[in-house]
Amino acid sequence: MSDETFILTALHGDGDRKTALITLNRPKQLNALNDGLMDQLGEALLRFDADPAVGCIVITGSEKAFAAGADIGVLAQHDFISAYTSDLITRNWEHIRRVRKPVIGAVAGFALGGGCELAMMCDVVLAADTAKFGQPEIKLGIIPGAGGTQRLPRAIGKAKAMDLVLSGRMMGAEEAERAGLVSRIVPADKLLDEALALGELVCALGNASVIAAKECVNRAYESTLSEGLMTERRLFHALFGTPDQKEGMDAFLAKRKPNFAR
Ligand code: HXC
Repeated sequence: MSDETFILTALHGDGDRKTALITLNRPKQLNALNDGLMDQLGEALLRFDADPAVGCIVITGSEKAFAAGADIGVLAQHDFISAYTSDLITRNWEHIRRVRKPVIGAVAGFALGGGCELAMMCDVVLAADTAKFGQPEIKLGIIPGAGGTQRLPRAIGKAKAMDLVLSGRMMGAEEAERAGLVSRIVPADKLLDEALALGELVCALGNASVIAAKECVNRAYESTLSEGLMTERRLFHALFGTPDQKEGMDAFLAKRKPNFAR
């Protein structure tokens, strides 16, 4: 692992459980994603996921760029053999898929190529009004390699995904929201506050129900409707065995705030 620090981390929030903030930190290169950065991001994600004091994770970039893609200087050095045998992408891009707690992407500026793909790996994407999304790989003589051709059509439909992947053009925050790529747009200077506020809401909820909810929504993308409904039903039933279900319902009926177990 590189000695350079390509990410910054901090814990936020007033409750028992905190929101972990991961800031991609290669601002001069517009957060171009190199191996060292992806190693550090993957390590931080798994560490926070395993930490009971953390309830939610936010990934953000700089004002100008969430991430302008994989580092083209590094990609340019690869040939087929090196890309294939080093398992380019898979080795350190897929840790985020193992994270069970919610991950919020807070995107300002460019989210291009691998940057757009990283945003799409997050569970919720909040976009600053300055955000620009795109898959410009086609302009480099390649195609998206970290899920862009698969997650984009699932998120925004085939027509718009083809439009973006085949042209390499960027779309702004409003188009991205209309298309369903982002959950909402916020003013750029409020982006982090909004993401951390959402994180704090999630941190105050029951951890088991939050993890179950994420698992079920993700099943919708990986299974038939019947299998997805069965997963939902099983976890729905299972949650009736948790103290959080008793606490949540008792609190509602007693007209008080719930105090969920950690
Ligand atoms: C390496 C990058 C970079 C990248 C920007 N930089 N993007 N370096 N890899 N992906 C560097 C520039 O070389 C420059 O360095 C500095 O960041 C500032 O960038 P500028 O181009 O001067 O800024 P600007 O004119 O504002 O243009 C911003 C931009 C442009 C539109 C985002 O930088 C751009 O088109 N970047 C490439 C976007 C891209 O093609 N992404 C896909 C990559 S392939 P210097 O040293 O000159 O200051 C990919 C494959 C993913 O992601 C496969 C799976 C992982």
